[in-house]
Amino acid sequence: MNKALRLPTLLAVRIVRRVIPVRRRHKGPVDEAIAIEQAGADIVVAAGFEAGGHRGSFLGSADESLTGTFSLVPQIADAVSIPVAAAGGIADARGIVAAFDLGADGVQMGTAFLATEESSASALHRNALLSGNVRTALTKGFTGRLARGIKNRLMDAVNANEGSILPYPLQRALVRNLVVPAAKAERADLLQLWSGQNANLLKHRTVDALMHDLVVGVSAILVPRGK
Ligand SMILES: Cc1cc2nc3c(=O)[nH]c(=O)nc-3n(C[C@H](O)[C@H](O)[C@H](O)COP(=O)(O)O)c2cc1C
Repeated sequence: MNKALRLPTLLAVRIVRRVIPVRRRHKGPVDEAIAIEQAGADIVVAAGFEAGGHRGSFLGSADESLTGTFSLVPQIADAVSIPVAAAGGIADARGIVAAFDLGADGVQMGTAFLATEESSASALHRNALLSGNVRTALTKGFTGRLARGIKNRLMDAVNANEGSILPYPLQRALVRNLVVPAAKAERADLLQLWSGQNANLLKHRTVDALMHDLVVGVSAILVPRGK
């Protein structure tokens, strides 16, 4: 470019950038892990798309931060130097070993413990998780924040009216009016049943049996590898 033209062109670009703000890059879960490390945390949890319950996004929107555990864990392990706990979809020894292979230093399991009798989940909820026939989906309709639960009649109804979902915690309070009598009537189809995508792998009804199986299972995989 002609030198005489370069300066006015650069000036023009600067002016246009000021007048028309450039859309900022969406901040996703890897940026959040870096922010957590910079804030001084001792550990970061890399929670993938598969996880049950609410999304933990805080820099970007939850809808735009849906990365699977398999992709997310190595990216976060590469981006931070604090220990990484992998979460989302881990329900047995194979999942734990896979998480370690992907660079995790530990795992956080939610749904598998939710199904045990030591959890505060209702018997209806625990039985649904252990039914072997669980389909899950993401919804804002249970609380107003994006979360994963069992796809049932209640979820279908709230998702069908996505436009009328209230912000958190108003939607939560609204749905509670239905959930409390539904629980009394033992209507699992009308309850908000949190679950990860791993529910159909679940077998254990007590923490003791679950932990025993995990320890034995992880050893059975790692010992032949000499680890
Ligand atoms: C009932 C329930 C509620 C949850 N609530 C939250 C939450 O509010 N914020 C969050 O970051 N994660 C939440 N989670 C996710 C868990 O902390 C954990 O990362 C997740 O359960 C691991 O995945 P898994 O369910 O596939 O084992 C919740 C999980 C469950 C089962």
